[in-house]
Amino acid sequence: MRIAGRHFRTIWRAENGDVLVIDQTRLPFEFETVRLAGLEEAAHAIRSMMVRGAPLIGATAAYGVALAMRRDPSDAHLAHAVELLRGTRPTAVNLAWALEQMTAALACPAEARAERAFARAAEICDRDVALCEAIGAHGLSIFERRFQEKGRKGPLDVLTHCNAGWLACVDWGTALAPIYKAHDAGLPIHVWVDETRPRNQGGSLTAYELGAHGVPHTIIADNTGGHLMQRGRVDLAIVGTDRTTSNGDVCNKIGTYLKALAAFDNKVPFYVALPSTTIDWALAHGAEIPIEERDARELSHITGRTAAGALETVAIYPPASAALNVGFDVTPARYVTGLITERGTCPASRDGLLTLFPEQARVAA
Ligand code: MRU
Repeated sequence: MRIAGRHFRTIWRAENGDVLVIDQTRLPFEFETVRLAGLEEAAHAIRSMMVRGAPLIGATAAYGVALAMRRDPSDAHLAHAVELLRGTRPTAVNLAWALEQMTAALACPAEARAERAFARAAEICDRDVALCEAIGAHGLSIFERRFQEKGRKGPLDVLTHCNAGWLACVDWGTALAPIYKAHDAGLPIHVWVDETRPRNQGGSLTAYELGAHGVPHTIIADNTGGHLMQRGRVDLAIVGTDRTTSNGDVCNKIGTYLKALAAFDNKVPFYVALPSTTIDWALAHGAEIPIEERDARELSHITGRTAAGALETVAIYPPASAALNVGFDVTPARYVTGLITERGTCPASRDGLLTLFPEQARVAA
């Protein structure tokens, strides 16, 4: 997508073969790229959330393996790289998927590994872009239908939670891809952007990228969506996911479940957009997903820009109070109107998913 008129992906290779990413911890105030020259830097970028979002975590892990192979392509170093990267973030399944892809691609003589690894990582990135764009096209037809149902009056009001845009992927995004497609096709659209505490990926990243693309949007506190739904001010909700199990349960950024409950109560369609790389076919229920707990400091402190223009982090709560920072929650499939994938939209159920991905019937839990 475009930043100040220039097309960017979230991850790409520098001329000397290093990997470049956007430091998302500095957005929306500073657009800075960071050079990843080795495995440890790639692992740090994921752990520190310099890069984040399920598909981008997978892409960065793939390049992390490639950077490791550039330095030392031995079996031992490959195993070390995979284990180190696997431990960086537990919830998004794209990480494990990408590491499996890399391991399979690197079953070759050590001398061939570095080149092969960079080629496979690039393929993973290109494929993610294609999957997200296809999700955008399928989602667009849902948006157009909903716009007709609303009598083509006013903008289509769409609510989203967290950031599932191009910054969470390689390009386009998952939940935001249909929004970009709709906007580009001239469908009047307005997005309610959940702030998404504690790290505010909605307010800082979703709002930033929608703004850069010229999509009308309004940031709301996380607790506002239910009220807006009661007042008929949300036509549909769409979110991404970090892992969806074979029965259609959706794990996504903390707070998604509450939005789904409010949408269900108010008969607001609640869609989840995901590439098939985010489906964990081996798990039968969302309750089996490991849920990341992060440093309580993300809750008790907040970073912003001062009037003087500096980025500063300040404490906002009583220092002695305990704080719990759970990263994700699970929305049961029954609250999901449909899963929008690169192959089309299906009910959030095992049968629904297998209609689109019949080749997974033997592995689906
Ligand atoms: O903790 P993050 O920022 O890595 O969270 C991931 C997300 O961006 C969201 O949960 C998103 O909605 C799914 S990833 C497209």
